Amino acid sequence: MSSDATPHAAHPVRPITDDEVEAFTAQLDLGYHENPPQEAHDLWMRLLPRERTIAAFDGEELVGTGGEFAFRMTVPGGAAVDAAGVSVITVKATHRRRGILTAMMRHQMDGWHERRDASVAVLQASEPAIYGRFGYGLGTQQLALTIPRGAEALAAVPGSEKFRLRMTDPLQAYDRCQEVHEAILLSRPGMLPRVGDGWRDAALADHEFAREGAGPLRCVLAEDASGTTVGFARYRVKDDHDIPGRPSGKVRVQEVYGRDLASYAAMWRFLLEIDLVSEVRAAVPTDDPLMFLLADTRQVVPRLEDSMYVRLVDVDRALAARRYATAVDVVFEVSDAFCPWNTGRWRLSGDADGAVCERTTAPADLVLGPRELGAAYLGGFSLGALGRAGRIEELRPGALAEASRALVSDVAPWLPFGF
Ligand SMILES: CC(C)(COP(=O)(O)OP(=O)(O)OC[C@H]1O[C@@H](n2cnc3c(N)ncnc32)[C@H](O)[C@@H]1OP(=O)(O)O)[C@@H](O)C(=O)NCCC(=O)NCCS
Repeated sequence: MSSDATPHAAHPVRPITDDEVEAFTAQLDLGYHENPPQEAHDLWMRLLPRERTIAAFDGEELVGTGGEFAFRMTVPGGAAVDAAGVSVITVKATHRRRGILTAMMRHQMDGWHERRDASVAVLQASEPAIYGRFGYGLGTQQLALTIPRGAEALAAVPGSEKFRLRMTDPLQAYDRCQEVHEAILLSRPGMLPRVGDGWRDAALADHEFAREGAGPLRCVLAEDASGTTVGFARYRVKDDHDIPGRPSGKVRVQEVYGRDLASYAAMWRFLLEIDLVSEVRAAVPTDDPLMFLLADTRQVVPRLEDSMYVRLVDVDRALAARRYATAVDVVFEVSDAFCPWNTGRWRLSGDADGAVCERTTAPADLVLGPRELGAAYLGGFSLGALGRAGRIEELRPGALAEASRALVSDVAPWLPFGF
């Protein structure tokens, strides 16, 4: 057991060593019921800093896995916060319901708090019911769209026809795509940067096992008259026929971005016009411009999906890192059993330029828990809505509406890619 193991856990929890990588990935295969090729494991193990892995042990046996990525996540107002992206959480089926997940959550949460690195933690949950008890609240949703082919359905956007579209090799075009990605990174809460070769390889990973029958990853760029890349789409097409001889391929969009509305619309027009195809599938933000460009949204079959769960590790650092739509001066009374350092009264005062959040002895205006703060943090769910659902108590009349207006984001947050 290494010196930084969690001593009080029934099953000791600590980062893995290089010798334990194989046992770690074997447990991931067990936990997720998958059998990815070795190169897929190699990619994720390269991305996952060794000191930010966690494994739980029963004697010599590795029985639980976890890990985290260090992100700078966009928050409302165009600022960014240090966020831990929690991933690869599994517990061996023979060892479930013995508190191993709880011990791993404890290990992560204590680490962030003591090191004062990530002030927010985010994750995608395989099952929504798992993480609420640890203070994670659903912070972003997405629309999973199935759009019948047909560009005539897309409203004309001035300037969108002037770009030159170019099919490219995804790897060769990666840096140009990154420039587009970086240009819009701060425009939507929840966006995550891709830093380094590892994230490039993850973005372009094209392992057959993950394609679900579709063809290889394709990349198309939009360039303006000066040759600057203004938009890109990465996608796959699954060849299909609804009856023999009648093609009905399926386009699966992995990413589509434009620097502005015209370039974004150009990318979508391209995707909706691909021949021998009957539908296009994509996951987009809940307020995506596409929903206002499609002439007949009833033709589109949207499914509202839960996406990213958010946990404020340190309420003060997290709330001070974002900006607020309107001026706010409110005292939260937080009750946080899993992170007791957050329990107590916090005064948040801020506006569009910045914020301060400090402990206070002033009377509380609103009583709430970490799940509500996590849900409202990226501005996608209003405190008002949570209050109307009975999840927030208002002690000062008007405080809920004031805080709600300030925290909500004009641009809906979303999670741009899985991790
Ligand atoms: C989900 C999983 C990690 C839970 O691990 P675990 O070690 O059994 O969890 P714990 O024993 O620490 O349970 C803590 C609490 O969470 C609850 N819980 C655990 N898994 C749950 C689930 N899937 N749904 C609802 N509640 C769950 C437990 O009942 C327990 O509640 P209690 O304290 O009131 O008794 C494990 O079952 C697993 O590996 N599943 C497959 C992979 C997976 O789903 N990973 C999540 C990826 S995001």
